[in-house]
Amino acid sequence: MEQKKIAPLTRGLTGRLRIPGDKSVSHRSVMFSALGRTPVRITNFLHAADCLSTVACMKALGATVEMVNDTELVVTGRGLHGLQEPDVILDAGNSGTTLRLLMGLLAPQPFNAVFTGDASLSKRPMGRVIKPLSQMGAKIVGRKGNTLLPITVCDPGTKLHGMTYESPVASAQVKSAILLAGMFADAPTTVIEPVTSRDHTEKMLAAFGVATEQDGTAVTIRPVADEEYVAPEAIEVPGDISSAAYWLVLASLVPGSHLTLENVGTNVTRTGILDVLAAMGAHIEHTNVRTSGGEEAADLVITSSKLHGTTFGKDMMPRLIDEIPAIAVAALFADGDTVITGAGELRVKETDRLQAIADEWNKLAPGSVVAGEDSLVIHGGMTVQCADVASYGDHRMAMSLAILGAAGQGVVLGRPDCVNISYPTFYDTLQSFMD
Ligand code: S3P
Repeated sequence: MEQKKIAPLTRGLTGRLRIPGDKSVSHRSVMFSALGRTPVRITNFLHAADCLSTVACMKALGATVEMVNDTELVVTGRGLHGLQEPDVILDAGNSGTTLRLLMGLLAPQPFNAVFTGDASLSKRPMGRVIKPLSQMGAKIVGRKGNTLLPITVCDPGTKLHGMTYESPVASAQVKSAILLAGMFADAPTTVIEPVTSRDHTEKMLAAFGVATEQDGTAVTIRPVADEEYVAPEAIEVPGDISSAAYWLVLASLVPGSHLTLENVGTNVTRTGILDVLAAMGAHIEHTNVRTSGGEEAADLVITSSKLHGTTFGKDMMPRLIDEIPAIAVAALFADGDTVITGAGELRVKETDRLQAIADEWNKLAPGSVVAGEDSLVIHGGMTVQCADVASYGDHRMAMSLAILGAAGQGVVLGRPDCVNISYPTFYDTLQSFMD
């Protein structure tokens, strides 16, 4: 489908909605289970293109994956040292998490593996992972001076060396890659981040018997012995707050809404959007608070309200990095200006999201957005019209533009199918609010 028309909503969003599984947790559940020796039953798995890229890679590395149904699978590995040299090229597709975490996992292995990915992933910076892994003794080569796909991870010929690495970026993908490599190193490995990023790796490794130590923004992992690594019988993936984000914003904006989002992961390293929306005047209540697979989860009840602009920056960024496009929709309909700083990482996501937000929002509300090198200023409360807009093949841009159209005067969205990367049922759910 080349273009999709999204109509304006004519009534508030009501009822209950179950949010699909968390993408970050789904990736990790398959990767970590593939290092165990016993079967792990994974439920509420996100059946979307990115996570299926991870499944295909782990199968190629020797894990057994049985799909019970769309959202349930059983993964059985061959032990911590049981991965096998793949006889195919590992295709990470659009998924930065698949590629960066697997580089860390494969760097210490006594075999070679070759990675490819789609056009978007082939432009994204991989030096941020290759450089620290190489400092540990990994042998990784890639295009453009070992910074871009295609990438080959070679047998290092010896154990990797534990080290302390001060990362210039707050990135869970970088942190996780180094920690995974650190499990196989000859001494403890510490990653220090400028601001703490999402901690799903640390939380899930704990469920496999692997302890990490957190000290401020530093995380340390020790070499892990075979017998220490014990797979749990089951992992329940909580719902993805990054997918919930679209409904949190849309229900806040559309008058008459009273919507319950069931089973949303509320790990504090991911809940920046709840803090920002609250600061903008949103009404979001937590009910049924619990833990799901070692992660906090809750049902979130949103009641529409008038929003106003806000300001946030670098310290908040890792807690809402993927939600900036959705927050930028809220900001467009809010009263007053929203100023977002310290957001340079958005330029190296699936597309340059700072530029994409400025270009597309300005088609719908001319003069509403100014993008700086690492910032966005969004003038809220301007007249919003219908326009042809581009998703750039970026799932989060597509879904944000769709809710922008639904809250405003509609959009005609180019390359809409990319929502399959993280939320294949997104348009069906949006349609259910229109019927
Ligand atoms: C992710 C980390 C974040 C996020 C991405 C998923 C993860 O990326 O944007 O969607 O699962 O670790 P960075 O670590 O590059 O910030």
